[in-house]
Amino acid sequence: MNTRFVAFAAGLAPALAVGWFGFPRLLYRQVEQPLSFSHKVHTGEKGGMACADCHSLGPDGRFTGIPRLEKCAGCHSAPVGTTAAEKKFVDDYVAKGREVDWLVYARQPDNVYFSHAVHLSGKEKVACERCHGPHGATDTLRTWQVNRISGYSRDIWGPNIARIGRRPWEGMTMNDCIQCHEKQGRDSSCLACHK
Ligand code: HEC
Ligand code: HEC
Ligand code: HEC
Ligand code: HEC
Ligand code: HEC
Repeated sequence: MNTRFVAFAAGLAPALAVGWFGFPRLLYRQVEQPLSFSHKVHTGEKGGMACADCHSLGPDGRFTGIPRLEKCAGCHSAPVGTTAAEKKFVDDYVAKGREVDWLVYARQPDNVYFSHAVHLSGKEKVACERCHGPHGATDTLRTWQVNRISGYSRDIWGPNIARIGRRPWEGMTMNDCIQCHEKQGRDSSCLACHK
């Protein structure tokens, strides 16, 4: 084999590897959640709570989103267990009446209109897991990542930069929304999602 080519290939491979594995690290800024939270503790055997105990459609049809402190305070006015995470929560938030500034993985840019109500109570009743994966059963919170250029949460593109073999909930770009809408024969006019 041509030695020049061998040298070229020998240089190219590590360069590609650096780009492939290093690029996401440079592209995304990493931010930790303000508090650790285990869905599993609350929705598993110990807590026995349903999703709707904390996330539900209110009487006005609006989705409550992430529950506010008052939802938690009933059980956590004093520690129930002995974990450091709970102690921090009780001391720094419940006792001070301070809301937790959770970072939302699924957050869309401001110009996108998304309503949980149409998806949850329409004919199709799309499951939480279809769009959010197993988040409701997780024990720890992932590091939140934000694209330095677009300002988007990484979950919009999804964890897999190449998007090969990704699972249905991994990524919620405009294309992902529209693909499902077209399959279901739903409105895909610009103004359905951009007001
Ligand atoms: C005790 C209250 C509570 C219960 C019960 C609960 N959650 Fe949550 N949920 C939270 C809190 C607090 C957050 C914010 C922290 C986080 O991202 O996990 C949250 C966030 C979320 C998010 C937002 C993820 C994002 O994009 O940032 C999803 C999705 C979610 N929960 C799904 C579920 C599902 C599914 C269930 C039922 C299996 C459930 N939750 C049950 C309290 C609860
Ligand atoms: C129905 C009662 C109940 C409600 C409501 C509730 N929790 Fe809990 N929580 C528990 C129990 C039980 C545990 C487990 C305590 C142990 O044995 O360590 C727990 C544990 C925790 C812990 C420590 C373990 C972990 O998750 O990392 C945190 C933090 C916590 N809860 C935060 C919250 C927040 C935030 C809310 C409101 C969104 C909330 N809880 C609502 C009952 C509740
Ligand atoms: C898994 C499939 C699925 C995905 C993914 C999805 N949608 Fe939908 N969407 C639906 C269905 C089904 C309806 C119609 C619900 C009904 O009326 O029965 C709908 C309805 C809507 C509507 C109301 C449209 C109208 O006709 O008035 C809007 C707005 C919307 N979706 C925005 C979004 C956005 C923004 C995203 C991406 C962030 C998204 N959807 C992702 C299935 C999906
Ligand atoms: C069709 C896809 C879809 C389904 C189904 C869906 N979500 Fe979401 N969810 C989203 C999107 C997109 C966002 C970001 C919304 C935004 O930024 O305006 C979001 C945001 C959230 C948030 C963050 C707070 C907020 O309101 O912005 C929570 C909590 C949440 N979802 C929980 C749930 C739970 C629990 C279910 C099931 C009962 C569910 N979602 C079903 C797509 C979905
Ligand atoms: C089903 C929902 C949906 C429909 C229909 C839709 N969009 Fe989007 N659009 C999104 C979402 C979600 C994003 C943010 C994620 C992304 O950039 O892929 C977005 C992003 C965009 C952006 C990029 C904005 C930015 O800040 O980078 C443009 C431009 C845009 N849409 C234009 C359009 C036009 C033009 C149409 C009609 C042909 C349209 N969209 C139809 C959901 C939709």
